[in-house]
Amino acid sequence: MKAKILILSLIGCIATSIISAQSLSLIPLPQSVETGEGEFVFKDKLVAQITPQAKEVFDLFAKDFSRATDIKIKQIQKSSKAQLELNLVASLPAEGYTLKVTKEKISIAASQPAGFFYALQTLKQLLPRNVMAGVPDSSVRRWSIPCVEIEDAPRFAWRGFMLDEGRHFFGKEAVKRVIDVMAAYKMNRFHWHLTEDQGWRIEIKKYPKLTEVGAWRESKGLGYGNVKPDTEHYGGFYTQKDIREIVEYAKARFIEIVPEVDIPGHSQAAIAAYPEILACDPENKHEVWLWQGVSADVINVANPKAVQFAKDVIDELTELFPFGYIHLGGDECPVNKWRENEQCKARLAAIGSQNYRDLQIDFYKQLHDHIAQKPKDKQRRLIFWNEILYGNTSMLSNDITVMAWIGANQAAVEAAKRGMTTILSPQIPYYINRKQSPLPTEPMSQGHGTESVEAVYNYIPMNNVPAELQSKYLGVQANFWTEWVVEESVLQYLMLPRLAAVAEAGWTAQQKRNYEDFVNRLQAEKAYYEKSGLNYGKHVIK
Ligand code: ACM
Repeated sequence: MKAKILILSLIGCIATSIISAQSLSLIPLPQSVETGEGEFVFKDKLVAQITPQAKEVFDLFAKDFSRATDIKIKQIQKSSKAQLELNLVASLPAEGYTLKVTKEKISIAASQPAGFFYALQTLKQLLPRNVMAGVPDSSVRRWSIPCVEIEDAPRFAWRGFMLDEGRHFFGKEAVKRVIDVMAAYKMNRFHWHLTEDQGWRIEIKKYPKLTEVGAWRESKGLGYGNVKPDTEHYGGFYTQKDIREIVEYAKARFIEIVPEVDIPGHSQAAIAAYPEILACDPENKHEVWLWQGVSADVINVANPKAVQFAKDVIDELTELFPFGYIHLGGDECPVNKWRENEQCKARLAAIGSQNYRDLQIDFYKQLHDHIAQKPKDKQRRLIFWNEILYGNTSMLSNDITVMAWIGANQAAVEAAKRGMTTILSPQIPYYINRKQSPLPTEPMSQGHGTESVEAVYNYIPMNNVPAELQSKYLGVQANFWTEWVVEESVLQYLMLPRLAAVAEAGWTAQQKRNYEDFVNRLQAEKAYYEKSGLNYGKHVIK
């Protein structure tokens, strides 16, 4: 009889843990989840006791939570009546937290506001998904969460997403929606690709033509091959007021914005605005580009006025973005025009090199030195795409960060060997603007559909990297290029649910990651996406 009870209770335990793995549906999967017996049932009113360090974070949570559930929250000073507690525990890791739910109480601890924010995101994921969406759901009659003990902290410090708004402009509200999804998945870096051959999207006070001229073009879609531009007047940009609003929005969600001004390549829109200081051939006509691809019209890096322009732009970016990094691009910069330009030839000789790529490094060095002489609070670390490694980076500095996209695994190792920090954003499979299925119903985009949810999920970051280089790996990032993507609904469709897969690679220890388990947990996201009004790829969501 005893043996039978033991077997039954063992089966019960196994059943509980199988049910919990699926029904908890947490993304990204926490470090440790122990489910208990029973549940915490919410009443009409929730009494909460909040440490001052969590106050701002909690107020943001409380607004969404009360709107979605109609449960009122009463915040009190220390009292045994609290049903929800947020306590400061200094020994917990940065961004980490613990969340303990018993039948009587929900207890959260963290050492920093970010940890409280992530704990509350997890708490929302333990509830019906209308809570994460922040909208009411009258079909829910009883609000409860299972008893559980969670200990959690991220694997990587950098869990990023890049959006290219140079090719197509989506606007403030679309960007806030992206930030909301990133926050739901505990991502913390929004890399904002703000300039391109096809458009300059950020107001720079000292150079007003960047947006008067550079933010507009005479085609909405971009020409390619035999397909001509469509002649529609198209464009848009963010004013500095818009930028400040989005910065505040992101900060409240523990997302640092990494603004990217891609120079000296991918700069035809800026050159069209100021050919007299930026063009290698100012005597010729320059216009905002109407085509896909890589333009050969690059900035004349040997012109001191172009260097001054870049410094001035960096100064305004520094004032607008109170974060750690500025990205200066550096990818796909053809050097043909430099080869034919007397100023460039002379500068290359002056720096004692025959490699035209070093002109780019020399340009960056002047910008790096400009930042280095700023006061401490205005210092920014520079990020570049991994083509920077094709030049003599010893002329520059190793206190830069390399974003590895092409041949990403090898490039990241090379950057780390040169003493630089690095971020993994492999074109295949982390360019999540590429088709996520070979089905003919997939919207027009790059790729052949091989960047499926599974392929994205199964990329292993920092695989077989020598132990001594691993501290240089900041983390992972999904990138989204918009040559083909004109509408926000297509952006969302291609981004989701693959963003969740990258978020989990950034947060969850590799040995805990399992694609089938992820797909099981992903099923709950259908309700989150639909209640939030977000479009998504339906391939693996039933
Ligand atoms: C890139 O994909 N050109 C960074």
